[in-house]
Amino acid sequence: MIGIDLVSTGRAIPGNIITNDDLSKIVDTNDEWITSRTGIRQRNFCKEEKNWNLAYEAASKAIEKAGIAKEEIGLLIVATFTPDYQTPSVSCVLQEKLGLPSGIVAFDINAACSGFLYGLKVAASLIEGQDKPYALVIGSEQISTRLDMTDRNTCVLFGDGAGAAIIKKNDNKKFVGILGSEGNVEALGCEGHGSDKPYVYMDGKKVFKFAVQNITKVAKQVLEEADLTVNDIDYVVCHQANERIIRSVQKFLDIPEEKLYINIYNYGNTSAASIPIVLDEMNEKGLLKARAKVLCVGFGAGFTWGGVLLEV
Ligand code: COA
Repeated sequence: MIGIDLVSTGRAIPGNIITNDDLSKIVDTNDEWITSRTGIRQRNFCKEEKNWNLAYEAASKAIEKAGIAKEEIGLLIVATFTPDYQTPSVSCVLQEKLGLPSGIVAFDINAACSGFLYGLKVAASLIEGQDKPYALVIGSEQISTRLDMTDRNTCVLFGDGAGAAIIKKNDNKKFVGILGSEGNVEALGCEGHGSDKPYVYMDGKKVFKFAVQNITKVAKQVLEEADLTVNDIDYVVCHQANERIIRSVQKFLDIPEEKLYINIYNYGNTSAASIPIVLDEMNEKGLLKARAKVLCVGFGAGFTWGGVLLEV
């Protein structure tokens, strides 16, 4: 598969900040428990915004930073498990709101928290035969509408947000990305509105163990396929679900502190949005220099997992 360039990024974080202390007034929890078990200090919940509003803001910023015309975008993929409508997809709503031309390819992907990585690989495989040079890949989530705010096991972990990336095909590069799925329904999920289990449910310990094992494994597989070691990588970006999961992966892969970017402290777990939000923060700080190699790894409900090597 031919490679891609990461052209630009954008993010959207809704304005309603919910601190751990705020949550301690709703459920039996406290700041010390949440920060020591997860690293999370605060998260953002939508007020008026819908999922597509977040996706729109992140996408608009990425398009503006890329300095490209909307007519040059031929593919739009939104990764989400919290769409506004059963159908049409967030992508099609966004296509209309952004004014992207008729005839482009637009659809959503649900691979839960691995969704953005799934989106990158699907985009890389479709972009090859496309006449328009750019693809827009977004992770966007409004998880607050799927949280049981009486369940302290889950409601403290998640947040809303969106991250977007514009990518372009590069014939001189090779795309390295590995995806997988296990087929597990009981450990982590959300049946959605109108069902018996409308809110996120989770067996935290099972998820934790799965996450550490599989992120470590897929990271090694990607490095092997790319014929690289951690020493050759500039940054490792993990799905931001729990700082302790990320620290365990850091230990197993022996990742130096300066190569790891963590921002779960401020956002909680934003599912498919977490990796592109990290990428946008890194971009803003000037960390994604030309030719930087960024290893992105994640996992999510399903269980799904993915690892993608991005070269800026
Ligand atoms: N505040 C206070 N206590 C809480 C709590 C909260 N928000 N949530 C759970 N507890 C309690 C539980 O009721 C349990 O109490 P009990 O022992 O009396 O039954 C106890 O804390 C469990 O504590 P501990 O064993 O230390 O939890 P943990 O180390 O397994 O951490 C998670 C819990 C959820 C933070 C951790 O398992 C985790 O992060 N798992 C992965 C979750 C994830 O990543 N999900 C998204 C995937 S994309």
